[in-house]
Amino acid sequence: MCGIIGAVSQRDIAKILLEGLRSLEYRGYDSSGLMVVNSTGQASRLRCVGKVNNLACAAEHATLSGETGIAHTRWATHGKPAESNAHPHISTNIAVVHNGIIENHELLRDQLQGRGYTFYSETDTEVVAHLVHWEQQRGGSLLSVVQRVIPDLRGTYGMVILDTDSPDRLIAARSGSPLVIGCGVGENFIVSDPMALLSVTRRFIYLEEGDVAQISCYGIKIIDRCNNIAQRCEVELDTHYDVVNKGVYSHYMQKEIYEQPSVLKNTLSGRHNNSFVELHELNEKAYSLLKKVEHIQIVACGTSYHSGMVARYWLESLAKMPCDTEIASEFRYRKSVVRENSLFVTLSQSGETADTLAALRLSKRLGYLGSLSICNVASSSLVRESDFSLMMKAGIEVGVASTKSFTAQLVILLILVAKISSLKDATSQVEREIVNALQILPSCIEKVLLQDQLIAQLAQDFSNKNHALFLGRGDQYPIAMEGALKLKEISYIHAEAYAAGELKHGPLALIDSDMPVIVVAPQNALLDKLKSNIEEIRARGGLLYIFTDAISSFVGSDNIYIVPLPHIPEVLAPIVYIVPLQLLSYYIALIRGTDLDKPRNLAKSVTVE
Ligand code: F6R
Repeated sequence: MCGIIGAVSQRDIAKILLEGLRSLEYRGYDSSGLMVVNSTGQASRLRCVGKVNNLACAAEHATLSGETGIAHTRWATHGKPAESNAHPHISTNIAVVHNGIIENHELLRDQLQGRGYTFYSETDTEVVAHLVHWEQQRGGSLLSVVQRVIPDLRGTYGMVILDTDSPDRLIAARSGSPLVIGCGVGENFIVSDPMALLSVTRRFIYLEEGDVAQISCYGIKIIDRCNNIAQRCEVELDTHYDVVNKGVYSHYMQKEIYEQPSVLKNTLSGRHNNSFVELHELNEKAYSLLKKVEHIQIVACGTSYHSGMVARYWLESLAKMPCDTEIASEFRYRKSVVRENSLFVTLSQSGETADTLAALRLSKRLGYLGSLSICNVASSSLVRESDFSLMMKAGIEVGVASTKSFTAQLVILLILVAKISSLKDATSQVEREIVNALQILPSCIEKVLLQDQLIAQLAQDFSNKNHALFLGRGDQYPIAMEGALKLKEISYIHAEAYAAGELKHGPLALIDSDMPVIVVAPQNALLDKLKSNIEEIRARGGLLYIFTDAISSFVGSDNIYIVPLPHIPEVLAPIVYIVPLQLLSYYIALIRGTDLDKPRNLAKSVTVE
């Protein structure tokens, strides 16, 4: 994680760096810092614990000005959130900002201490500053010095190095963490995410793995991992950075939950014609590949993994397509067997999740038929490195807890299931049924949102609990998992999800009147089985919250709360039933007074493993 921005200009860039950091805050927000240097070599560094706003306030009272600078917003990996651990880290004239993890930092620290260097932080990054400083004594340009240091580093980095003695340039290096050069007129920039620079440029050059670049006001020089001068094409982004505001809502998360009907209309738009799927984004090559596919391997993390789990149920039951779904951090280190004609599918809101990207890169060496990513950020590394992509079109998601991106991901997956089903069997009605159902999805979610006040009321008693269980069966099991994830990440209540049939194999021992059990119970073939599980909880005095459209199947009482939901086509249930769980978590967290949009210890984009 961590966001990086750097600039070499002829104008004062302190404000540009601060504004850039605000857009990068989703990458980490436990501390931030910046360093600027003017043409006479006068440098100032400012670092603060907490959100970027703390740094911006401190900057108002400091005299910060300079034409060259680097800045960083941190998500702590090594060393607690503290001013001393905030970047930039310096070694005399050398300053460094870094995203990633230098895995051999302990060894390097020992060596550098042996050479007389004093460390002022607990971070892995500080070794880079001292190493560059040490190597600089051996001579050569800053670019060649950094190139000599790189072979000593193990791990991942996107880093930018500033030498206050030569403030006319910055050196950037990428290995495992994205970096993009922003091209200006008489000025150039470097950043982790181009969105943070859209106010100053739309022209970007994406660095590739192993690249080292020198950026000055008038020139950009890129050296590839084989030490050759690289020509990388400039890309003009036509994305508009919509400054997202909360409008009438109290939090971005609340807004993003409420936005779902319109977001899903957008995700669907142009992707069906009457009862048929139309995926214009996929070219002939993609279609002929899809026709060959005999197995799908889905890989993702967190919320995206949960949508991948739902997709597995859908692909096997509706499209008769064998599918496996795995957590990216497990997949990448496991010796897996690749099935014949298997398509590798990655799911990611950000497209920058380190483990998912690493899994994609690994898949290219393993003999998959090809790779497809489902993503929300068109310029992301995942999209650029996949053979084909389908965009979620969910708009920028600001809340750290994923909501609208989860439902948008599910919509794309369901469209894909429809397409695969018709490619496999032209006589199948599955495509028609799915497309017809999807057309009423936005209005189904609108109806669910009408339960807002009932859910807010239920949250009152729930908010003082310390633990919760979420139960579901079949394609609702991943929804129970996603509901539990939402609750723990924003309310800090410990929550676990179980496939309801597993209850009697252990978790039933936890049931008492203090343990809320949330059950997602749509009308389907498994409802009777689920009702038996609910009875087992009831018989042991458990406190039940049942979300269901099978109202007549349940009777509310003192310890059974029923949240009635609209009747919907069965295939839509996973998409619809997550929405009330998002609302429940939202209202519980609201009562508990947590930082809902930026929960503690988390970041929106997880760019370290
Ligand atoms: C939870 C959440 C995370 C992300 C996970 C993967 O609300 O947002 O679990 O889903 O970090 O992120 P992406 O989808 O960007 O790969």
